[in-house]
Amino acid sequence: MNPEFDTSFIQNPDSRPNPNISEAESIPLIDLSPLFTTPVNLTPLISEIEAACSNVGFFQAINHGVPAELLQRVQSAAKEFFALSTEEKSRVRRNEERFLGYYDTENTKNVRDWKEVFDFCVNDPMTVPTSSESGETAVQQIRNQWPENPEGMRDACMDYAKAVEGLSFRLLELIAMTLNAPAKRLNGYFEDSISRIRLNHYPPCPSPDLALGVGPHKDQGALTVLAQDDVGGLDVKRKYDGQWVRVKPVPNSYIINIGDLIQVWSNDKYESTEHRVSVNSEKERFSIPFFLYPAHYTVIRPVEELVSEDNPAKYNEFNWGHFFRSRMSSNFQKLGVENQQI
Ligand code: SIN
Ligand code: FE2
Repeated sequence: MNPEFDTSFIQNPDSRPNPNISEAESIPLIDLSPLFTTPVNLTPLISEIEAACSNVGFFQAINHGVPAELLQRVQSAAKEFFALSTEEKSRVRRNEERFLGYYDTENTKNVRDWKEVFDFCVNDPMTVPTSSESGETAVQQIRNQWPENPEGMRDACMDYAKAVEGLSFRLLELIAMTLNAPAKRLNGYFEDSISRIRLNHYPPCPSPDLALGVGPHKDQGALTVLAQDDVGGLDVKRKYDGQWVRVKPVPNSYIINIGDLIQVWSNDKYESTEHRVSVNSEKERFSIPFFLYPAHYTVIRPVEELVSEDNPAKYNEFNWGHFFRSRMSSNFQKLGVENQQI
């Protein structure tokens, strides 16, 4: 793809990217090697994660245990796939019934993103509710669709998915411990998870001062584990001063951010942080987020270990699948397809 630039890509003046954005001291860098070292002493790591989640909502993780070779295989497959003709990519184009596959026309908050994507689920098929009405239990199974080319894309993606899902479970355990809950307190919600992986391609953009690869948004799932290449472009809105900062690419690292569900589970101890993707006129950029989403039937409420008379629950309980589906279907009706970064 190299779309024609038109007014649908133009951000409102208050959302336009800042060309002089700073990369310095953007988000904490956390070494996860204590997870793999014996004797196990996780106390300092838990404190670092607690501070990063409270202060920024984002961190970069090194020594995370995901083999580099698994990521490289997906990165190569993504590059080859996005280089195919639009006609060929469109054979696996997503539609209203089947929202996994290729897409190049997505909006975030009513403005079109300068990107193309390929989505797949980690547990194939995944089960989601068919309707956002409360009270009903009708569900639908959604399957991945894979292109014929590049050969081996499916295996590369699914092998990677298992490894990165494993990392996300370890991170979830660490986060549960920062909430004074047992390590496995949240893991049970993910047995029939509807977690997803997205391959993102941001082509060079003729007007990077006006458009964004992804407009400002918060992630709505539990947490996101993102692999980015060395181009850079992910901007995070710093909580303490509201400034946008660019996340500096660190080789062999993952960028982790908490989503809305951890905000609710933590009863607002942690907030999910706004972020966006800037593009540039010279280089294309690739990124691969893994979105950790619970099973569709999960009821979400603040963890009981944190709730007391002094700290009452700040959220009513809600059904994750209905929430997920209502966001998706209302977006389909309104706008064609809206960004589903839940
Ligand atoms: C996203 O937040 O949707 C994508 C992040 C990235 O491409 O860096
Ligand atoms: Fe995001």
